[in-house]
Amino acid sequence: MNTTTVSSNARPTLPEQSTAEPTAPFLRACRGLATTYTPVWLMRQAGRYMPEYRAIRAQHTMLDVIRTPELAAQVTLQPIDIFGFDAAIIFSDILPPLISMGLDLEFVKGEGPCIHNPIARAYDIDRLATPPAEESMAPTLQAIALVANELTPRGVPLIGFAGAPFTLASYAIEGGGSKTFAKTKALMYREPAAWKRLMNKLVTVQADYLVKQAKAGAAALQIFDSWAGQALGQQDYLRYVQPYNQALFAAVKRGTDVPVINFSTGTSSYLPDVVACGGDVIGVDWHMPLDWCWQQIGHATPIQGNLDPITLMAPWRELQYRIDDVLNRASGKPGHIFNLGHGILPETPTDNVKRLVDYIHTRQNVQEGHL
Ligand code: CP3
Repeated sequence: MNTTTVSSNARPTLPEQSTAEPTAPFLRACRGLATTYTPVWLMRQAGRYMPEYRAIRAQHTMLDVIRTPELAAQVTLQPIDIFGFDAAIIFSDILPPLISMGLDLEFVKGEGPCIHNPIARAYDIDRLATPPAEESMAPTLQAIALVANELTPRGVPLIGFAGAPFTLASYAIEGGGSKTFAKTKALMYREPAAWKRLMNKLVTVQADYLVKQAKAGAAALQIFDSWAGQALGQQDYLRYVQPYNQALFAAVKRGTDVPVINFSTGTSSYLPDVVACGGDVIGVDWHMPLDWCWQQIGHATPIQGNLDPITLMAPWRELQYRIDDVLNRASGKPGHIFNLGHGILPETPTDNVKRLVDYIHTRQNVQEGHL
């Protein structure tokens, strides 16, 4: 199947203004407004499970795709054209903003991200730069303008994103992924003043980057705090994470009025503390049922989630049962965006993705909150 290619002379068009009542189902759900069907997109929807993505990656490194606006735009559009998701998410990663702060990032084949000069002591933190996003992330801002120009006339909103400070700090300190986050937590406990300076620098860089993504054409933003809940219990979360997330969400709110999604994993046991960080929509992982999570969050706040990504590997009968379960627990209430509880895996069959989107789109919201 052909996917849209984008030329570099496309001019950005304005994203849907968030002050008027939006028409796109995804943006309506972000505002808690009723929709005829539940909008759906999947975290990591542009990625290795798609042969079209793998074909591009066979010729370019991950960082090359991110740094070439036309390629990033093309990869962003592939899952929209092929599966018909209700929102696109700009192709990039949470880690590239660390490069111009002074960290030497590489995506190593088969291993994932690697930082060759990880932070080990306070001195390394004080040396980190905080450049504005138009210097450090210009290609991604250009890619956003290209994609928004293509998708705005088609009525499909584009999501911009960034990592939350703890999740980014964990990569910067561990030098890559981690199971225990031992180095990160040791630095946090040993040098609380340096931790504060690191988190504040990350807040500065990420807030600026998020606001500039909205200005470039992103109609919504998502902040990924993938690892804070995996690493920390409630007491540490309140002390070492929440103040900085609050500062980040507040700074983004001051800079733009597009809706912001607050996504985390491993935080089911303290969801109200996650809500207190900010965000117009709370993205939840798949550990607890959606209705339970929504009750913890409060029904006034929209929710995104929360199918276990591995159920996409199940036969359709089982997958359909699991999709129904998530939708039944949302019970057609306005303000539900269907998504996975974490990113889609590379081994996911594309047939199941197509079937999932079509099934959700044809299953009307008839129980409550219908138009
Ligand atoms: O489609 C989309 O969602 C947009 C693109 C996107 C990527 N990464 C592309 C990517 C987004 C939103 C991310 C976010 C991201 N990156 C997170 C937060 C979300 C989450 O899953 O918790 C995190 C923790 C990362 C860090 C990261 N990047 C890891 C751990 C890895 C290696 C593991 C993996 O999934 O491959 C990456 C690489 C990465 N980021 C790939 C893609 C498509 C695979 C690169 C490749 O080999 O082509």
